[in-house]
Amino acid sequence: MKMFNFNGNILMSVVVVLVLCLSEAAVVLGKIDVRITNEIGNGYGLSIHCRSKNDDLGQKMLKGNMYAEWAFDANIWGTTLYYCDMVWQLGWGHYDVYVASRDKSRCHYNCWYSARQDGLYAYDEVNGTYSFWARWETNPSE
Ligand SMILES: *[C@@H]1O[C@H](CO)[C@@H](O)[C@H](O)[C@H]1NC(C)=O
Repeated sequence: MKMFNFNGNILMSVVVVLVLCLSEAAVVLGKIDVRITNEIGNGYGLSIHCRSKNDDLGQKMLKGNMYAEWAFDANIWGTTLYYCDMVWQLGWGHYDVYVASRDKSRCHYNCWYSARQDGLYAYDEVNGTYSFWARWETNPSE
């Protein structure tokens, strides 16, 4: 009986250590924040629809200077992918806004984008500025 209790305590210790390790892993990976701001200007709205394999954030209409933002934990397998369809009056595009294998060294926390007339700008966490990232795929009226 004493032996059984002893083994039970060891089992409990192993469980506690495992739980601590898993929560530590979550802390180390951290939340990744994606934000998309409509800075097209001239009163143009921007419609966005962002999704991942397991998550559909729905269609959103962003008026000037409004943004959509969400946060998530990247999965430990490094396969997390979020993509958005974006449409405004003079352009549209389909963009992968978070690809774990591509972005894990680029945006640790803030994968932010700014939509402008000539395309999307991406935020750089190190210098704190947005720089040109991708043009609109095409003008829907062309
Ligand atoms: C910030 O970093 C990006 C690269 O991530 C670079 O293209 C851009 O020129 C930098 N901006 C400034 C102001 O240093």
